[in-house]
Amino acid sequence: MQTDFLVIGSGIAGLTYALKVANHFPDKKVTVITKTNADETNTKYAQGGVAGVVDEEKDSFDKHIEDTLIAGDGLCNKDVVEIVVKEGPERIKEIISYGAQFDKDEKGEYALGKEGGHSEFRILHHKDVTGKEIERALLQQVTQTKNIEIINHCFVIDIITQHHLGYLVTKSTLNITCYGVYVLNLNTNLIEKIVSNVTLLATGGCGQAYRTTTNPKIATGDGIAMVYRAKGRIENMEFIQFHPTALYEPGVSPSFLITEAVRGDGGILRNKKGEAFMEKYDARKDLAPRDIVARAIDNEMKTAGTEYVYLDCTPIKKEKFIHHFPNIYEKCLSIGINIEKDFIPVAPAAHYSCGGVKTNEFAHSSIQNLYACGECASTGLHGANRLASNSLLEAMVFAHRAYTDVVKKINNNEIVFEEKYNKIPDWITLGTTEPKEMILITQSLKELQQIMSDYVGIVRTDVRLARAMKRLDLLFEETEQLYRSTKVSPQLCELRNLITTGYLIVKGAEFRKESRGLHFNTNHPQKSNLIQNTIL
Ligand code: FAD
Ligand code: SIN
Repeated sequence: MQTDFLVIGSGIAGLTYALKVANHFPDKKVTVITKTNADETNTKYAQGGVAGVVDEEKDSFDKHIEDTLIAGDGLCNKDVVEIVVKEGPERIKEIISYGAQFDKDEKGEYALGKEGGHSEFRILHHKDVTGKEIERALLQQVTQTKNIEIINHCFVIDIITQHHLGYLVTKSTLNITCYGVYVLNLNTNLIEKIVSNVTLLATGGCGQAYRTTTNPKIATGDGIAMVYRAKGRIENMEFIQFHPTALYEPGVSPSFLITEAVRGDGGILRNKKGEAFMEKYDARKDLAPRDIVARAIDNEMKTAGTEYVYLDCTPIKKEKFIHHFPNIYEKCLSIGINIEKDFIPVAPAAHYSCGGVKTNEFAHSSIQNLYACGECASTGLHGANRLASNSLLEAMVFAHRAYTDVVKKINNNEIVFEEKYNKIPDWITLGTTEPKEMILITQSLKELQQIMSDYVGIVRTDVRLARAMKRLDLLFEETEQLYRSTKVSPQLCELRNLITTGYLIVKGAEFRKESRGLHFNTNHPQKSNLIQNTIL
């Protein structure tokens, strides 16, 4: 199959870009691929909202920029922060014009929320189901756009480069070029090639590398692992953000999120004894940036030997709580927690990947004709720690920038259909057999999640990282052997991708001989004077 614009992923990043290119080139074909149903994305689960300077009387670009830089702990690219903060409001207007609705107060003004690290109320939200509303609005627009085709249940295995045409490709190869992707089309059960002049990777995050995560099952780092295999550049993977307050429900995956906006409205963290503890750790108390709050909770849990702390919502009036957080209210009630009098048990959970595919300020990766945006990308916005609710904004800003760059390049004939596309070989399945024992995949996945959670979590040490790497090496060897000898399945590919993602996180953490932002290593507790990104 051949398409003009290939988009991998149907979250906010992929759909925003798809709509823009499709509307600009109504005679061209845009193909969006997604590995399960189109709406099953991290985007759908976003709760808190979209950060943006909306109230210019109280807020300003400078304040949002400053808050983002403080959270990023010295590693943000300041130019990128300015781009996102200043272009953000225009993108927010666009998503509203697509039909996304954000809550308003009784005066008809946007009801802005506050989250950790924000000095002002600037979070636009739709109750506590903002992502669901955004995904709904985008999908509705997409289905009304004739030249966009969405292919569900179509698993991308690898991106196609010169390597597949028989050339040797290494990290130092210049002009590695993306020609499209190989997919396992679960509708036909065939491995197909989809070739395209230009591909956008919007495959989201990798929370499933950890045992406890807020991310849905689809978040297996596929795009990041594919680019690494294709010898593209990956950056800052050690900065995995743990959300401080996921509902503590042993055995339930993914973990249900209790949005930070609850603390923005007055929720207080308390330890086992019922003491409010955040003032011991930071002057901003419960609304300190996430890395600080997650580490404080981790410390309280370890000191008391508990698996959770409490979120006390009793300071928030019941009516206000139900109005702003109806979904959380219902969820708590369903498991016997009445937020009016009971505390909610919460614990940190892997939540967001700040690093990813290294991109420039137009979302272009180090591989030609391959763009990346959304959570799979590392744009330079987040640095060592993402400011809450900046990621939906980032995805929209860079989807737009990718689109403008593609338009410019097509107009300048810099993206052209090449003859060699016809020479791309079919996928070879010769010599492989049906997987006989799924246990080989499921057990390795459990081991991986265990290793990452126990050795590469909120607090790290050199010994734990070295142990993690040794064990990942073994998992890698075993899984590659399985991959070579059995028929490809999404489960096997996801395991392979998660092992690669785990490796990139550990490798990044080993390189960083300091503690900064989300990366805290007790053997190197100080921040280094050297400001550097980890590029692998
Ligand atoms: P996603 O929305 O995750 O979409 C990924 C897409 O890629 C999916 O369609 C998937 O099928 C597809 N895909 C992946 N791999 C393959 C493959 N191999 N083949 C084919 N398709 C593939 N951020 C905020 O700014 N504000 C919030 O309030 C907020 N709340 C959050 C709450 C939760 C519970 C979670 C988990 C995240 C939250 N985030 C929030 C983060 C934010 O939701 C994500 O960073 C963002 O939605 C990512 O969007 P995306 O388009 O990059 O990827
Ligand atoms: C939340 O609502 O607490 C999550 C916000 C985010 O991850 O940006």
